[in-house]
Amino acid sequence: MKYFGPKFLINLNQLSSNYDLIKSRIDNCDIMATVKANAYGHGAIQIAKTLEKKNVRYLAVFTLDEAIELRNAGIKSNIFIYSRLTIESLKIASKLNLTLNISSFDDLNFLKNNDSENVKVHLKFDTGMTRLGVDAGRAKEFLSEISKVRNINIEGIYSHFSTADEGDLSYANKQLNLFNQVIVIAKSLNIIPTFIHCSNSGAILNLPASRFNLVRVGMLLYGSYPSDEVPKDLNIKPVMSFTAPVVEIRNVLKGTQISYGGVYATTKDTQIAVVQAGFADGVPRPWFEKGYVLFKNQKLKITGRICMDQLMIDVGEKSIQYGDEVLIFGISEDHGEINLNEISDSINSTPYVLMTAVGQRPKRIYY
Ligand SMILES: Cc1ncc(COP(=O)(O)O)c(C=O)c1O
Repeated sequence: MKYFGPKFLINLNQLSSNYDLIKSRIDNCDIMATVKANAYGHGAIQIAKTLEKKNVRYLAVFTLDEAIELRNAGIKSNIFIYSRLTIESLKIASKLNLTLNISSFDDLNFLKNNDSENVKVHLKFDTGMTRLGVDAGRAKEFLSEISKVRNINIEGIYSHFSTADEGDLSYANKQLNLFNQVIVIAKSLNIIPTFIHCSNSGAILNLPASRFNLVRVGMLLYGSYPSDEVPKDLNIKPVMSFTAPVVEIRNVLKGTQISYGGVYATTKDTQIAVVQAGFADGVPRPWFEKGYVLFKNQKLKITGRICMDQLMIDVGEKSIQYGDEVLIFGISEDHGEINLNEISDSINSTPYVLMTAVGQRPKRIYY
């Protein structure tokens, strides 16, 4: 049965090109590709398979379940789990070759009291994000303690920036200084991990000094910039394109109210097309205010509130038919490009929110 409905067209070649562009920007330092949250909505398994073919040094997920899903799909690459250590993850980490996050003194005690079978761990220090991580100020105490724990392999030390994608980098630089102090302490205690990492997408562009020998990258791989305050000079392109079919065309008179709430009325006699994609599929609801879709490089205004499964557009005099597909975001040879950065700027959101909010219902087509 031929599929008719909203689609996510996922261009794996584009993912590879984005990967290569990032790799050349970071002078070939290693990449930990962040594929959590279903690879930011793109489908973790397919994305991981493509990155594995590129010999990515590490993949990162958030939950143990996400890691197990990748292993069940045959992914062999190193996998790091960002979330807080749990007994479940400790039990199967070695068997599944998963690398765990150690981010507190409690985790340290937990390791002491449980058999960890030489599990690989990365130690997380909080330098100012105030989320997970041992206080950088207690690094010496923590590192001396952990160096005594047997049966663990301290493979990495890392931290996470909270403002690396902003124009004012003073806070990020403070974080970086603190992190550098942690590394000095580790070295003085003879802890020399294979990987030191701190950079996310924002830092890759804004703070080259924070690269160390591994970067944890998500957003840039998928083809959008983390914010408007980074140099947008990488030539990355969206991996995902969201298209949906026109399912109805109606002639309406000037002054016709469209969609819920009647907040929009036509300003002239026109044609309104109904498109089969709504906020349940991932069309950002506030986008209707200034939003548009693309059809053969022409902008067609979204008219009225976006519904759960459908939205309406003003097609004017244009010739558009039942079954024609329009581009909601992404890039297409037929229609042009709408980057999520443009939509997120317009509705005061971020590409992170919009990407990870894409629905489960549209068919994902990989090519
Ligand atoms: C700990 C950690 N590192 C790296 C990343 C990747 O960030 P980005 O998508 O900005 O590259 C994330 C994403 O949220 C994260 O939580």
